[in-house]
Amino acid sequence: MGRTPFCFPKKGIPKEDILAEMVASQMHDVQWREGKTFSLVYHAGEVVTDLLMSAYLLFFSQNALNPTVFPSLRRFETEVVMMAADLLGGDEKVVGNMTSGGTESCLMAVKTARDWFLSKHPEMQKPEMVLPISAHPAFDKAANYFGVKAIRTPVREDLRADVDAVEKAIRPETVLIVGTAPCYPHGVVDPIVELGQLAHEKKILLHVDACVGGFMLPFVQRLGYPVPDFDFGVPGVTSISADLHKEYDVACYPSSEG
Ligand SMILES: Cc1ncc(COP(=O)(O)O)c(C=O)c1O
Repeated sequence: MGRTPFCFPKKGIPKEDILAEMVASQMHDVQWREGKTFSLVYHAGEVVTDLLMSAYLLFFSQNALNPTVFPSLRRFETEVVMMAADLLGGDEKVVGNMTSGGTESCLMAVKTARDWFLSKHPEMQKPEMVLPISAHPAFDKAANYFGVKAIRTPVREDLRADVDAVEKAIRPETVLIVGTAPCYPHGVVDPIVELGQLAHEKKILLHVDACVGGFMLPFVQRLGYPVPDFDFGVPGVTSISADLHKEYDVACYPSSEG
């Protein structure tokens, strides 16, 4: 195309040339339509992809920054969060947001727990969270961004969270416990019921990172497979992150009176 890459173009480029160059660039990408691509592209078939692309184009220029100017976007977000909450055993008290991805959903859960805790205990200036070593690195990012020390605990032989180890790691500064359903490295669901009991007993919030399982486990269960309890139906669970994989993410929090 005769232009110097990395320099701001001196003149405009015809549309056809731009598109041709973009198509040519795709040749170096993994050819996911021709085979399986672990975890990077979740192709739900042509019919769904077609609908997604049409919907995307319909709202291509709308900006969710201002939901009073674009109430349609607010409506979609609210409805998706409500449907997600319903699927995940929540009731009408659950509130939440659509985020840019799983990581942001986990970040928001940690920030919410920290802010909630500090509003009640302003004297505790060094908050901590307790999470098994199998929890996603997104929580280490959250620890760093929001000044919440991450205390990592071992997993049991079956690679699920060791609840006794979690209990031992809890201190007065603990603002949050994290469990995963299922965790990315091993594909196992942490014992959320036991973690919920512990969280309830100690009056600590419990986040379930269901970025992988949130929109999968409910359907796996409907297919008749046994699925451990992991959602808002479990006493003690106070927030859930779930990926509409991975194009959209939802983070839900039951509104708390306490
Ligand atoms: C359990 C879990 N939590 C969080 C994330 C982070 O999601 P994202 O890569 O969309 O930021 C992932 C990603 O694979 C995950 O598997």
